[in-house]
Amino acid sequence: MKPIPLILDCDPGHDDALAMILAAHNPALNLLGITTVSGNGGIAKVTLNARRVATLANIKVPIAEGAGKAILGAIEEASDIHGESALDGAELPEPKIELSALHAVDLMAKLIKDHSEPVTLVATGPLTNIALFLKMYPQLKNRVAEIVFMGGSASRGNRTPYAEFNIWMDPEAADVVLRSGLPLTMCGLDVTHQALVTKEIFTALEQMGTPLSSTIIGLLKFFAKTYDEVFEMPDPPLHDPVAIALLIDRSVVKSRHVNVQVELSGPLTRGATVVDIYQRLGEPANCNVALDLDFDKFWSMMLEAISKAAIKA
Ligand code: BDR
Ligand code: CA
Repeated sequence: MKPIPLILDCDPGHDDALAMILAAHNPALNLLGITTVSGNGGIAKVTLNARRVATLANIKVPIAEGAGKAILGAIEEASDIHGESALDGAELPEPKIELSALHAVDLMAKLIKDHSEPVTLVATGPLTNIALFLKMYPQLKNRVAEIVFMGGSASRGNRTPYAEFNIWMDPEAADVVLRSGLPLTMCGLDVTHQALVTKEIFTALEQMGTPLSSTIIGLLKFFAKTYDEVFEMPDPPLHDPVAIALLIDRSVVKSRHVNVQVELSGPLTRGATVVDIYQRLGEPANCNVALDLDFDKFWSMMLEAISKAAIKA
């Protein structure tokens, strides 16, 4: 099978960094480019982090900086979870990868135009860049194979009681994506809270014994500490790579194809994804919602990618 061409739009971010590694180091995927969006940190921080992680993990694709604020102008950082740099916990190399002169949205358009087959967009941050791309390049919509995003929840949230962080940051962008008519897969907290970094995973990383695995241990220990402090979850959930893993092997998640809409106005529920599991609203299904994870399959892919990235480095 031909590798799946994809663009990763992200806001690194601990779990985004691991999503970059999985996207770049699995033979089933053909990573065409990485674009950044503000979320876990301001746009300058997350772009620098993306270039540092690419340097660290031997990822050689164009990287372009994207939106610095949400469609309605909101800016927030998740420093309570990801630290001041948005990627605290380990020394990262100075970036050797140049930043593209193009804006993220224009790089997406160029990569999609230049590729012979439809391209998959994976978003692991707020959906701002993806929504801007759909609005600015409507003629390229039929060149998008599908959109997979980490965000939302069929139950509770993590930024507010009902809204997950990525969707809460830019609900209007999520609304554009959910109404796009393109094939969509949502990897929300339901499934990503099963991708836990357990003690056994830390042991496997220690046994790998590469400089890259040691750096990742440092990053994930920081992430585990903040997750324990904020959410009482000592084994933190590695959200973002789940959106990549399901492209490599669809059987890594179990999904339901249902109607999903985003709450734009509720004073307490803005940014909540309304996932109609029992089809009570009578609205057409527009999104595959991943609900269950094959933990062993997921981690064997993730660990293999980390060990491959280290060998090539
Ligand atoms: C999402 O928010 C960010 O903090 C993570 O990188 C992930 O994309 C989880 O809610
Ligand atoms: Ca993210």
